[in-house]
Amino acid sequence: MEPLRLAVLVSGRGSNLKAILEAVAGGALDVLVVGVFSDRAEPPAFEWARQYGVPVFSVIPSAAESRSAYGLRLAGEVQGVRPQVVALAGFMRVLSPVFLGAFPDRVINIHPALLPSFRGDDAQRQAIEAGVRFSGCTVHFVDEGTDTGPVILQSVAPVYQDDTADTLSDRILVKEHRTYPAALQLLAEGRLQVKGRRVLIDWDGRPDRLPRDSVREWQEIRDSNEASLNRPV
Ligand code: GRF
Repeated sequence: MEPLRLAVLVSGRGSNLKAILEAVAGGALDVLVVGVFSDRAEPPAFEWARQYGVPVFSVIPSAAESRSAYGLRLAGEVQGVRPQVVALAGFMRVLSPVFLGAFPDRVINIHPALLPSFRGDDAQRQAIEAGVRFSGCTVHFVDEGTDTGPVILQSVAPVYQDDTADTLSDRILVKEHRTYPAALQLLAEGRLQVKGRRVLIDWDGRPDRLPRDSVREWQEIRDSNEASLNRPV
């Protein structure tokens, strides 16, 4: 069977792109990355693409271009590499309905918080300011809202009292780099079914690899929360 054709959209550093490319090279992720696209001229992420021999494309919005005109142009460029799925990995623009309409239910994103908490920019700072004990990352389908689409996988990271947005970002990133390839692998294996707001995962016969980690992690957190709730006072 041909591997799933994946396009990745980036704006900056590209550590998630790197994690995806490494997972593919290491045999943990059965996709073919067919192109990396950016709204910037030469983001650092392009270096990772080149190292793995993936073609890069800059699609820079012009000052006069509307969001939907840009979305249309970007969709046309991305369609040129015939992807089956589009993964946003630090792409710093809200995609227009025109773009999403070109890839219905086939665009996914990673967000550095446990959605639906802390949508939008600066999610790590929002988590610190809210005083939560745990945050993490979410891989989700993209819909027309900002970070509102159905959740595929999440992983949890603790928030410490002396965290800054940077230290928390680094801790969450470690989780991101495992969770994004894991979610993509579930998608590549056809194991995801969207039912309204929920994504049902078919775990049947799934070898006990990456995605199980995030489930196990979630169970551990849940169990420890329950244990502390049930502790006699
Ligand atoms: C990540 O924190 C991701 O969750 C967010 O943007 C950041 C991108 O980082 N959407 P990188 O470019 O993948 O290193």
